[in-house]
Formats: sequence, structure tokens, C-alpha cells
Amino acid sequence: MCGIVGYVGEKQAAPLIIEALKKLEYRGYDSSGISVLNSEGIFTAKKKGRIQELESMLDYSKIEGTLGIAHTRWATHGIPDEINAHPHLDCSGKIAIVHNGIIENYASLKEVLISEGHRIVSQTDSEIIAHLIEKFQKQGNPLEHSVKKALSLVEGTFGLAVLGTDKFGGPRIIAAKKGASLIIGIGNNEIILASDATAIINHTRKVIYLNDDEVAVLSKDGCFITKINGERVKNQIQEIKWSLEEIEKKNFKHFMLKEIMEQPEAVQNALRGRINGAVPKLSLKIDVNKTKRIILTACGTSWHSALIGKYLIEKIAQIPVEADYASEFRYRDPLISETDLVMAISQSGETADTLAALRQAKSKNAQTAGIVNVVGSTIAREVDSGIFLHAGPEIGVASTKAFTTQVVALALFALFLRHEKGIKDSPELMRELSMIPSKIKEFLTSAEGQIGGIAKEFYSSKNFLYLGRGVNFPVALEGALKLKEISYIHAEGYPAAEMKHGPIALVDDEMPVVFVATQSASTFDKITSNMQEIKARGGRIITITDEENSSIKSLSNFLVLVPKTIEELSPIINVLPLQLLAYKIADLKGLSIDKPRNLAKSVTVE
Ligand code: M6R
Repeated sequence: MCGIVGYVGEKQAAPLIIEALKKLEYRGYDSSGISVLNSEGIFTAKKKGRIQELESMLDYSKIEGTLGIAHTRWATHGIPDEINAHPHLDCSGKIAIVHNGIIENYASLKEVLISEGHRIVSQTDSEIIAHLIEKFQKQGNPLEHSVKKALSLVEGTFGLAVLGTDKFGGPRIIAAKKGASLIIGIGNNEIILASDATAIINHTRKVIYLNDDEVAVLSKDGCFITKINGERVKNQIQEIKWSLEEIEKKNFKHFMLKEIMEQPEAVQNALRGRINGAVPKLSLKIDVNKTKRIILTACGTSWHSALIGKYLIEKIAQIPVEADYASEFRYRDPLISETDLVMAISQSGETADTLAALRQAKSKNAQTAGIVNVVGSTIAREVDSGIFLHAGPEIGVASTKAFTTQVVALALFALFLRHEKGIKDSPELMRELSMIPSKIKEFLTSAEGQIGGIAKEFYSSKNFLYLGRGVNFPVALEGALKLKEISYIHAEGYPAAEMKHGPIALVDDEMPVVFVATQSASTFDKITSNMQEIKARGGRIITITDEENSSIKSLSNFLVLVPKTIEELSPIINVLPLQLLAYKIADLKGLSIDKPRNLAKSVTVE
């Protein structure tokens, strides 16, 4: 899980690729490195830590060259240090590579290479690629063929950029992809290669999404793509629609806060053009009559959306649904048949486990669909059809607007299925859905101060408990996950009624307990009893509710009022205070909110 950048053009490569690389830092940030090619050979610099640390040791006036590659790393094989940082060089120093992915058979390949006399210096799986290419180039193969020969030996995934010189064609970058995203930006007399569009958009909006098993030769003569097996591929140039403004932080202190605050627009965009009277307009290729069961599969926050999706689809469309962690589903050899519809939910569209689960479903002839944010991502391209979130890029590692737009997409999907099944349409739900963006806005415009106050009260707590019932149980899980990942406070989400089967033992006057207790919930009365149980044990209660009443008020130490909506849609509103609470606590603790320790935005390794 790393970020890759490459440049071929007329400008000086080093400053340009370092700037572009910074846009990819969210993919990993334990070390970084750069290689630039000029007439004297390849200059390489690497540094442990953030890209800024690499940048501050570079003297651009001494790094001339108009071809270069760079990499920001999230370690998988080998500790984060300068030796393991990319680029990796071959023995001669004439080939430099940057790699995102995992080479599963690297140990056996390494052994062979060492026995053949190659000097392998790092503990990474990636370095062997440079030596394999060297071996094939020394046998007289052109650089491109040497890369293809090397890749035909490796098992695993790669987004790869190789910097070198071909004895026939001159200096070039060879890019190759399998299971890790790689995009080629086509500018005026320049080509920018990157793991995703955020690094390219400053230079050009014209891009080619490289497909698995494709290899691109990037040189002053342009971009030439073939498959690893040699078959020619036509360049399919597409235009990126996201604006630069959407990608930048604007005036917010962190991307996470910006992304929380832009949820009214994000949700509006997710609904745009999809509400048509009582029937949602979605272009899905699903045979609903054939579908006996739906399996929603995802990881992390997207799995929490899947749990809500189960509730929504079963209630609205009356089709049985399972919500499965992709990492569990894929290794369980699940019983799947063509009467199943497997839907992968993923913000990035690149999560390795979700992608593998999807591929497994396809191999068992299930119908497939996706709910994905990143257009052109691998999952988006591999599903039979799907729903894009249109949430815009999500840069903060903690997922916020992806969650709310996923729930919106799932509600639309449930209504779509209901209609296709011939069940009477639900205009009330559609109407309420169309009002959700203004309700989100109503809450967010006034909430920051109050939630900031609650955060001040609890930011030094060691543990938090989040409780909810029904459709709001996954909201409790999501609130706990948000807090854990950015504030490093231990937190657990539980169905409120389960509390007395164990977690209640943890409750004392040190323990903040967050109740998601909107009154629209059919279990509202039960939740107030759970609150009594916590209160009786001295727990400090923060309640998220939609109507102030005297019993809730007397039980709660803090009461957060959210706009009223119907139960099915309440997770979209109820998660907002939990996102803000996690954010405010992490901010008070002075933590690295957008890039929390040990985490990366898209988990493209298993
Ligand atoms: O891109 P995806 O939605 O597939 O990512 C899944 C998880 O890795 C992601 O939701 C993760 O849990 C977030 N950091 C949560 O905030």
C-alpha cells in the first residue's frame, strides 16, 4: 500500500514528482524516495519518514533530469527505513523501480537471484523486480521485454514504474499493473504516472486507467500500451471530472473536518439525478426476480454501511441479506450460486479483501454489483454494474462522507429493488431521502461548538462505550471505530441490549457511554431502560437524540439534539455527532488526524 509517481516530459522531474507525491501521502507515509534519470545515470535519494523530510534534504539544482519516479511507502516487507524505501536499484544502478503491491513468491526468486550473483540489499519483496529486469536486459532484451519477462515470473500484485534506458529507444519509464491502481496522465508534451488521479490533476485531466496485465512504455515519443503477452492495447483516454478545489483542504484544519462538513453536498451529489418521483433512477444490471439472496461484502466503515444495508434491504425490499466482512467471506469458501447477488461496498474500490471477495463471487457465477466512490477503480471496473457515490475524493484516512453516501446509495438500492419486485413504492421514504442533505446541513452548521465542549470533558478518557439498537447499532460501531482510529482511545460499539451480557462490568464513573437513541427508533423505550442501567452504575452518558424529553434529559450528562428523520435514514444523521466527537477529541490531543499512526487510506494488501 504505497503511492507511485512518474514523469516524462520537458520540465525538471524532481520538484514536479515530489509535489505530486505529496498528494499520495495518504496511501502510506513511513518513508519515501525519488530517482531521476539524466545523461550521467540515475540519481536516487530516500528518506525515512514523511515526504517533507525527503524534500528538505534534496537540492533540486543538483538533480537535473526530465524523467523520474518517486514513491511513498507503507511497509509490508521489511521495516520502514532508508534501505527498504523505494526506489530500488539493480546491481548496476541503471534500473530503478517503484512498486505498490506484494510479490508473494519473492523469497524463492530472491534465492535464485542471489545464487546467480545479484546483490540484494533490502528486506523488501519489491527489490527483486529490479534484479530480474537487469538479468533479462543483460541477455540482450529491450527494457520493455525485460520488464515483461520479469513480471511473468512474479506472483502477486503490482503497480510498477521502472526507470531506465533502452539501448534501442533511449530513456523511458515502463509502467505495469496487476491488482494495484495506476493511472497515466497525458499532458502537453509530458506524461504523469500516478497511483491515483489526485497526483495528476494539477497537470492534466486527460487520463488512461491502466488495466491489469497491461504494460505502458512512457517516453518522449508518447505512451504505448500492450498486454504482458504482447497484444497491442488502444489508448482509452478519459477526462477527470473532479475539481482541484474538491481535492484541496480549503480553509479547514484537516481533511477529515472538511470532509465531515461537506457531507450536505456529498449526499446531495449521491442523490442527484436518482430521485424520480417514488422510483429511484439507477442503471443496474440485476435480474431481481432471479435474486434469492443478497450478500453485502466490505471492510471497516464500508462494512458498517453493509450492516445498515442489510436492515434497509430486508425491510424495504424484503429480500434476505447477509453482511459479511470481505476478509472472512473470501476464505470461508462460501456457498454461493447464481441466485445470489454479491455487492461489494468500497470507498476506494481498491481494498484487497473486498476485491478478492468480489472475484470469488464471480468465479461462482453470482451476479455482482458495487457501491464505490472512486470511478475507474478496480472494483468499479470488475462488477457487473453499480452505484457510484459521487462523494468526491476522500483524503482523510477516517472515512466520513463515504459512509453517509454509502447509506444513501443503499437506501436508493433498497427502493430500487422494492420497485423491481413489484412491491408498492414508498414515496414517503423518497421524499425524506431528498430532505436529508438540508437536515445534515442544519445539524453541522450549529454542532461544532457543543461537540467541542463534550470533547473537552472526555478527551483524556481511556475507554468509551457506544450503544445503539436496530439500524443504529452499526452507527455505534462506526462511532467507536472513528474514535479508535484517530484518537487512539479504546472504544467499543455494542447493541444496547447486549450491554448487560458483559460490557456493563466495565462501567464506572470513568466510563463515558454514548447512546444513539433517536426517538424514531421502534426500540426507543428499551434504550431508555439501558440508559437507566448505565446511570445506576455511575457511567457518564452522552445521548444522541432527536427530541428533548424530561426522562432522557435527566438520564444524560450531555444531550446532543439531531434533526428528526425516519428510522431507516436515521444512521445518516446520527453518525454526524460521532464523527465530530472523534475529530474534536483527536484535535484536542494534537494527533495526526488525517494520517493516523499505522493506518493507510486504502488497504491494498491482505
Ligand atoms: O476503501 P474502502 O471503503 O474499501 O476501505 C475500507 C476500510 O479500509 C475503511 O473503511 C477503513 O476502515 C477506514 N479507515 C475507516 O475510517
